[in-house]
Amino acid sequence: MNVQNPKRLNGNHSPTSRHGTNENQISEIAKRGAAASNEEATEIAMQDTLLTPRFYTTDFDEMDAISVEHIRNEWDPLIAEMESDPNKGHFKKNENWDKTDWDAMEPKLKAEFIDFLISSCTAEFSGCVLYKEMKRRGNNDDITQLFGLMARDEARHAGFINDALREAGIKVNLGFLTQQKKYTYFRPKFIYYATYLSEKIGYARYITIYRHLQANPELRFHPIFKWFEEWCNDEFRHGEAFALLMKTDPKLTSGVNEWWIKFFLTAVYSTMWVRDHQRPAFHAALGVDEEWYGQEVFTKTSELTKQIFPFTLDIEHPRWKPALRRMEKASRQVARGKKAGGVGGFVDRAIGGAKAAMAFVSLFMIPVVRHDVPVTTRLEPAY
Ligand SMILES: [Fe+2]
Ligand SMILES: [Fe+2]
Repeated sequence: MNVQNPKRLNGNHSPTSRHGTNENQISEIAKRGAAASNEEATEIAMQDTLLTPRFYTTDFDEMDAISVEHIRNEWDPLIAEMESDPNKGHFKKNENWDKTDWDAMEPKLKAEFIDFLISSCTAEFSGCVLYKEMKRRGNNDDITQLFGLMARDEARHAGFINDALREAGIKVNLGFLTQQKKYTYFRPKFIYYATYLSEKIGYARYITIYRHLQANPELRFHPIFKWFEEWCNDEFRHGEAFALLMKTDPKLTSGVNEWWIKFFLTAVYSTMWVRDHQRPAFHAALGVDEEWYGQEVFTKTSELTKQIFPFTLDIEHPRWKPALRRMEKASRQVARGKKAGGVGGFVDRAIGGAKAAMAFVSLFMIPVVRHDVPVTTRLEPAY
């Protein structure tokens, strides 16, 4: 097994010690008038909680051994499309990039929006780091070519967001993150499930916001949203690639692995729900109801994942939304407990944690909705 073990420097930097939870940090920044420093921005990006984007490492040799021969008819056109680089000139500011008056932005909105940008930048960069490492370690031409192309896209995405942050006087130190952020080891199959889902849900999130703002342009409070359409097509293609990688081995989507797929679907959906509810001002400014948005993104993502997973979560089940709401409430209790500290805080945290776990179990126990997986996997963006 060949596990990446990035060097961790023994700096005096303690990412979470000063501010505690991300939520506390955001509200502190908001109170101060939304002037997050570069150091704080990097600290937010450094955080590893259940709700923040992580960096991953895996068994690169196992991934390098994949053969795409029997899916070549679907593989080659996807690679050709990525090689043609449809978004080559897209991630550049042009005349559509309207000036943002950061100082005039309502402080709570500004803090939440900056948190959104930092967390998106970290998530994009996390993909970049993982894909680049696979390209570097591999010898399999198909695999290294794919991961090189995906790393190219994610580097652009992260860079573009960092550029937007720079206008607000903030910079996430991506080099520092690469060296210092904790890497979570996932077996290749877990990388497939987690990354496939994050690419497809990323597509669904970006396109839902994009379409909503297309219909309600007066709510577009920052130009970055105009870039989301072509942007999410990159994520769509990345998702397609992971669907094909999973298709190379039918065992990955059958038998006991169905439980893992169900687990990842439940975890990814519920994390997104809880995380989005932490940004009420951001969603209010966009004119987006978080529950509507969450459910809309789940619907789109579920439709897409039918291409490779043999079932979808029953997101219309009567227990679905109530359990998500309980989980969100429990996560607020945990955050309150963390902030309060002491024995009372500890008890609050423990009770909140137990409630969140129970809500997760309740979601996980909802029976799935089965369907026949199509013979041809490839899809085109249609939303
Ligand atoms: Fe991306
Ligand atoms: Fe991506």
